[in-house]
Amino acid sequence: MTTPQTTVIDHPLLQHKLTLLRQKERSTNSFRTLVAEISMLLAYEVTRELPLIYEEIETPLAKMRAPLLEGKKVVFVNILRAGGGMVDGMLRIVPSARIGHIGLYRDPATLGAVEYYVKLPGEMTDRDVILVDPMLATGNSAIAAVDRVKTAEPRSLKFVCIIAAPEGLQNFHEAHPDVPVYTVAIDERLDEHGYILPGLGDAGDRLFGTK
Ligand code: URA
Repeated sequence: MTTPQTTVIDHPLLQHKLTLLRQKERSTNSFRTLVAEISMLLAYEVTRELPLIYEEIETPLAKMRAPLLEGKKVVFVNILRAGGGMVDGMLRIVPSARIGHIGLYRDPATLGAVEYYVKLPGEMTDRDVILVDPMLATGNSAIAAVDRVKTAEPRSLKFVCIIAAPEGLQNFHEAHPDVPVYTVAIDERLDEHGYILPGLGDAGDRLFGTK
């Protein structure tokens, strides 16, 4: 499913790796590697519209005008803590990216997002921001993170996850209709604890081995 606001990236490599990631017997090491690999492929897709400038360079044989990324470095914003697994992968193909952090925890009673830490790079008005969190569940953390990043007025803003729930997508698009979402899958629904079904369980616990 692809709508103007949500793009499901249906590349066969991504779909295959997501199936491996979902399997409950997967080790922490393998889970982490797969999240990084998926994130590399996602980064490739979501950066395809970055603007280019042309500069004169010299090859060993001739001068030419050649394309380079325009403007200040891209920013990946890690929504703590599971976003960290995605940032590791994305940095492998955009190694000069700057990294922001947003710490939010989910109030177990209300499932609302509570902010406890924010650190973003400077000069955000000249930067393209890619916010990452593997799971877009209720949408509350994603909405709160985008609220916060928007106060820094970045040049552009995208949200990238691995699995999204329909409820979360609806909430997110209502709150931020101007922010596109990229995901590998849209699953069935949330359970009563706010986990995505069928999903992959707790992405943070599986990445960090804290279950
Ligand atoms: N966060 C997770 O890690 N998993 C879910 O299913 C929902 C939110």
